[in-house]
Amino acid sequence: MPGRRLAAFLFAPILVLSFYNPFIMPRESFYARLFAKAYDPVMERLEERLLLSRRQELLGNVAGKVLEVGSGTGVNFPLYAPEAQVLAVEPSAAMMGRARRKLEEVPVVADIELVQASLEAPELEQRIAPESLDYIVCTLVLCTVPDLTDALSRFQRWLRPGGRLLAMEHIHDSRQPQKWLQQKFTPLWKHMAEGCHLNRPTDRLLKEAGFRPVREDYLHTKWIPFYWAVLEK
Ligand SMILES: C[S@@+](CC[C@H](N)C(=O)[O-])C[C@H]1O[C@@H](n2cnc3c(N)ncnc32)[C@H](O)[C@@H]1O
Repeated sequence: MPGRRLAAFLFAPILVLSFYNPFIMPRESFYARLFAKAYDPVMERLEERLLLSRRQELLGNVAGKVLEVGSGTGVNFPLYAPEAQVLAVEPSAAMMGRARRKLEEVPVVADIELVQASLEAPELEQRIAPESLDYIVCTLVLCTVPDLTDALSRFQRWLRPGGRLLAMEHIHDSRQPQKWLQQKFTPLWKHMAEGCHLNRPTDRLLKEAGFRPVREDYLHTKWIPFYWAVLEK
């Protein structure tokens, strides 16, 4: 009996702490949780001024089988039409928690399934048959995927012939001193913004990977250029 009491005495605090202490039961980093919490409030002004209307343009007519990569807090979910069947993949549990709440709180008419996984997870290869997708949606995510060339070859494999990649991304500037600053600042920024690269020429890499722009446009804010495009396989 005293042995059991001693075991309970020792074990109980460990059990309690394990729910709170990342050293005992590793959870997502404090920083990843902070990033998820801050994401919508920090982006609010930029969304209102520039991004939201572009998201609406890109996503309003999407129908059929859709993969949304890195869906974050679910900003795009209310913008899909009822004809869209969306598989939304997102590796961050903290982002995912917020996306789930958004699904309950805002009107969403599309059929959306959330999966906690990164683009590179083997389970996605099992779930997504080659040439089975009508659309792949990437908004502010191709700056962050660890290997963009690998990601684009997956997209080529998963999209049906004529399928479309919808992208809205920030890209490396061609103007100076922005280009130089983005290059210099990226190693630090990657740590601050969960792997985001300020210096990716995503527009060029998309075309080099064989995607043909049906429509594309640029927007140069003072410090960072944005690219959005409808690209066909
Ligand atoms: C800047 S947020 C953008 C979120 C959302 N797409 C938007 O437009 O607001 C980038 C998201 O990509 C996710 N991400 C990062 N690497 C990823 C990967 N390899 N596969 C899928 N998602 C990834 C991050 O967890 C994060 O939620």
